[in-house]
Amino acid sequence: MDKNIIYCGDNLEVLPKYIPDDSVDLIYIDPPFNTSRQYEVFWGEAQERRSFEDRFGDAMTYLEWMRPRIKELYRVLNSSGSFYYHCDWHASHYIKLELDRIFGFDNFRNEIVWRRSQTRSSISKIFKRSHDIILFYTKSPKYKFTMQYKGLSEASKKLYERFDDKGHYQLVPLIVSGTRKGETGKEWRGIDPNKCGKSGSHWLTKPSNLEEYDKKGVIVWPKKKDGLPRLKYYLSDNKGVPLTDSWDDIDLIQSSSDESLGYPTQKPLALLERIIKASSKENDIVLDAFCGCGTTLEAAAKYKRRWIGIDFSPTACRVMAERLEKRLGLKEETDFILKDMPKTVEQLHRMPHFEFQNWAVVALGGIPNKVKVGDYGIDGRLYLADVVKEHKGDFFETLDKWYPIQVKQVNKVGRPDIDKFQTTMRRDKRTKGYFVAFGYSQDSIKEIKRAQTVEGLDIVPITVDELLNFEKSVLP
Ligand SMILES: C[S@@+](CC[C@H](N)C(=O)[O-])C[C@H]1O[C@@H](n2cnc3c(N)ncnc32)[C@H](O)[C@@H]1O
Repeated sequence: MDKNIIYCGDNLEVLPKYIPDDSVDLIYIDPPFNTSRQYEVFWGEAQERRSFEDRFGDAMTYLEWMRPRIKELYRVLNSSGSFYYHCDWHASHYIKLELDRIFGFDNFRNEIVWRRSQTRSSISKIFKRSHDIILFYTKSPKYKFTMQYKGLSEASKKLYERFDDKGHYQLVPLIVSGTRKGETGKEWRGIDPNKCGKSGSHWLTKPSNLEEYDKKGVIVWPKKKDGLPRLKYYLSDNKGVPLTDSWDDIDLIQSSSDESLGYPTQKPLALLERIIKASSKENDIVLDAFCGCGTTLEAAAKYKRRWIGIDFSPTACRVMAERLEKRLGLKEETDFILKDMPKTVEQLHRMPHFEFQNWAVVALGGIPNKVKVGDYGIDGRLYLADVVKEHKGDFFETLDKWYPIQVKQVNKVGRPDIDKFQTTMRRDKRTKGYFVAFGYSQDSIKEIKRAQTVEGLDIVPITVDELLNFEKSVLP
């Protein structure tokens, strides 16, 4: 694999087509759950809820849908690889049984509880639900793992109140309770640890190490005759507390944060960074087969892993590509490839409606509306770079220089569609607008001409074919 790749497609088709057996080091997935909440959506939330409910009516249907995908992921994972499945209470118990079957019970490593927020549920007669589950499996007992640490609390940091030229430190005993027969129980520098304390003690480490410490000047010898030596323990040597399987130090992304892309299921970067640092090394291949807006890819790229993202939403794939470019300066074609984005009229016909709308608006150079409420709203806005750049006045005035875009996934736009668009344009005080569809009826074209001559409303009808082939030439 010489290039990082985002595949646009159903992972059940992409995995067997492109990814060889035993080729991936780490897999993280965060598939749509068996829940009535909306998941796979970017902007068209209402449409998404419908499609989700149609597909996963109950847990068993969900599991049937996931099973072949998990088997494919198991196939591509290499023998020292790790697999993380992000889910929640809706289906975690079913999924665990399935993973035990596919990976083997002995290869189960952790059920990680990620406390994502204080509360989420509005039901008052149960304890508030506040966590997700991440199931961690490996393909074999020989797997890579690097322990991760939780930062010290402010109270713990305060214990390091002493300070010298090497930084903050605290003094810790070198002799600890309990007798030992081995090296650590031996006399050193005239002190027999067995004779210290009520029931005997031992050295923290063997005498040869104590010699080293003393050479480095990190042992403090007592001024009092019967005092015991202590060790200078520096704050910088304390990695923090080894993590347990209960993670409560990573918060959900706030909509106002820089990290937020407005994607409802976006996971925090810190969560993926932790998983990637624990279960992979530089240059390893990380795969996310339900990639959403690409959190896994950003974390993998940041830590110099190679990566593969898969998502069947072209909008998601576009957002991922933009994210990687904006946040990490990675360039499509040079640093990564965006593969199998829909390119033919037939493919565009088959796309879910909201995906089609997003595709058309983006292909036209516009920005999709985040909230789509029925057909009365417009689907996107086209801001003309030149207008904005040349505008010398108030910045907020430039925000008013935009044209509405209306998209219809139909073969022939009718006159009523054009009438509606005109109403919207008048309401928004726009004199120019763009319409995208597969074709236009003669009546609709007549109406477009009339509106221009009589009312000065300039509606530009664009076909999908034109958009595919002559994207640039149709733009003003
Ligand atoms: C819960 S989101 C993932 C969010 C992601 N972890 C993030 O931080 O952005 C699930 C994603 O899976 C994608 N998806 C659902 N079914 C899929 C399939 N069969 N193949 C590929 N992607 C799929 C959806 O389009 C959606 O973007």
